[in-house]
Amino acid sequence: MNLSLSEAEGLVHSIGKKVQKLDGRDVLIAPPFTHIHYLTPLTKQYGIILAGQNMHWEDQGAYTGEISGKMLKEAGCTHVIIGHSERRNIFKEDDEMINQKTKKALEIGLVPILCVGEKLNEREENRTIEIIGSQLEKDLNGVDLNAHGIIIAYEPVWAIGTGKTATPSQAQEVHKFIRDFLKNSYSQEISENTLILYGGSVKPENISQLMAQSDIDGVLVGGASLKAETFIPIMEFGC
Ligand code: PGA
Repeated sequence: MNLSLSEAEGLVHSIGKKVQKLDGRDVLIAPPFTHIHYLTPLTKQYGIILAGQNMHWEDQGAYTGEISGKMLKEAGCTHVIIGHSERRNIFKEDDEMINQKTKKALEIGLVPILCVGEKLNEREENRTIEIIGSQLEKDLNGVDLNAHGIIIAYEPVWAIGTGKTATPSQAQEVHKFIRDFLKNSYSQEISENTLILYGGSVKPENISQLMAQSDIDGVLVGGASLKAETFIPIMEFGC
């Protein structure tokens, strides 16, 4: 819930001019719902991918205040974030809802960016792997990844918006676990082809260490994505 429409438009212009010069880098933004339709022509022009920050699992109906995946597609999105920790923790979305959303997104042809992550007390109790495993099992229950792609984002809750980043080795350990989970539950090919992003206080100062980890394929950026001067160095890293 950040940036006015004119601020968002300015940011898209600033980053868009850089995106056009990047080779082999996918750049995606997830603006607030009310900005999406307006930003679609601009993002198309610059080659930026558009995502929603959330969606409902039904196509339409009496769900006041909700937005369906079909509506996101119509507005110009190809991707949607599902199960962000703020949705889980503040808005009480559970794994069953997240599972239904994931299935619906795949059914209608939106690529889900499924977020998983442990809370601070869970990490301190050495339950990180157990929590991530349980979230993946429930969120992907009955989800067929043979036909459609998914993106998974590991976002430790204690690292989001706090300035605390998981150390590269803490992140790598969980990313490897997610990679192995996909291999065991689906196939080697799906495990290798699925992008696994890290999120949680990603900044220009820590991007190189994070991206040096073998199972970190990209990043999901919150605070640092709101200003061109912090987002551009992250986006351009290694290009
Ligand atoms: P942050 O947010 O980069 O500000 O920690 C990440 C997120 O909200 O996914």
